Amino acid sequence: MTIRSLTLRNRLWVSPMCMYSAVDGLPQEWHHTHLAQFASGGAGLIVAEATAVLPEGRISPRDTGLWNDAQRDAWAPIVAAAHARGAHIGVQLAHAGRKASTWWPWAGESGSVPATEGGWPTVAPSAIAFEGFAEPAALDDAGIAAVVAGFADAARRALDAGFDVLEIHGAHGYLLHQFLSPLSNHREDAYGGTLENRARLLLEVTAAVRAVAGEEVPVFVRISATDHAPGGFTPDEAAIVADWAVARGADLIDVSSGGLVAHQRIDVHPGYQVPLAATVRQGGRIPSSAVGLLTDGAQAEAVLQSGAADAVFAGREWLRDPHFGLRAAHELGDAVAWPDQYLRARWR
Ligand SMILES: Cc1cc2nc3c(=O)[nH]c(=O)nc-3n(C[C@H](O)[C@H](O)[C@H](O)COP(=O)(O)O)c2cc1C
Repeated sequence: MTIRSLTLRNRLWVSPMCMYSAVDGLPQEWHHTHLAQFASGGAGLIVAEATAVLPEGRISPRDTGLWNDAQRDAWAPIVAAAHARGAHIGVQLAHAGRKASTWWPWAGESGSVPATEGGWPTVAPSAIAFEGFAEPAALDDAGIAAVVAGFADAARRALDAGFDVLEIHGAHGYLLHQFLSPLSNHREDAYGGTLENRARLLLEVTAAVRAVAGEEVPVFVRISATDHAPGGFTPDEAAIVADWAVARGADLIDVSSGGLVAHQRIDVHPGYQVPLAATVRQGGRIPSSAVGLLTDGAQAEAVLQSGAADAVFAGREWLRDPHFGLRAAHELGDAVAWPDQYLRARWR
């Protein structure tokens, strides 16, 4: 698959997954081994976890970041390790908004981290808390401009670290999604109300990241194509926003769902988000990827052949089997670049 100047070796990709293992936003040895193993395992593209563009945009105190140059320098050898193993690697640029400053999953606590334990005040489109979390402050115009600049600066550092793809995290109830959804955005200025206004920040960020990326580097946007809740963001709105994002320089819409409100109701089953990808893809007009309980090669291939998506992201299957790409290719009878060092183990 070729996107701008990038040719990916296949369409089975590693979905971004937070490891909650960074120190001061710096990726660690864990990240190096974790991400490199997928490159050995046949991934066409690896997208590194939600990486905060500003410190207050971290989901947890243990998130990775790209808000300073030390973080850029820590990412560079990880990117090189993926490249040395024949894969391309992107990074998901993120701001968690009102879902920032929360405990990591195995902290033994849940919800917001208090200031006394290293938490920080959060921001959002409106002063409406995610159920059970601390109340955020509504961003003013200067705060919004700082978010856009934060994404652009982090994008520049990502390119300097060698990343091949920049993905903007507009999904899962984080800041850009909070602006998109009428459930979390009650603003009455140019960033709230109509769909055009609710999408304004995502589109400004997309344009800013595209300006940094130039003509060669692919920019993806991950969205939640539905809030799975009454009165929330809808698949039809997602399709319109996808069009606008492509017009502002996005190359592919990575279609996920949910995460905005605790009272969401999701019917989770194999491939449950594939129809959303098809809605956003609009018959091929908008390059799109599917994700969500896609766990074997035949299933992933069927998604591609059906025309629902241009590529398949998998998350947890890669954690169960870091060589998922090699296995899927074998099961499909496809050739895939095995590491020379592993050739004696190749299925025949
Ligand atoms: C450990 C873990 C961490 C995750 N972190 C992120 C993240 O940083 N950004 C994101 O967009 N999605 C994140 N997700 C969601 C995955 O990218 C993926 O969309 C989801 O797991 C569904 O795909 P799957 O069924 O193949 O795992 C995470 C999922 C897991 C399991």
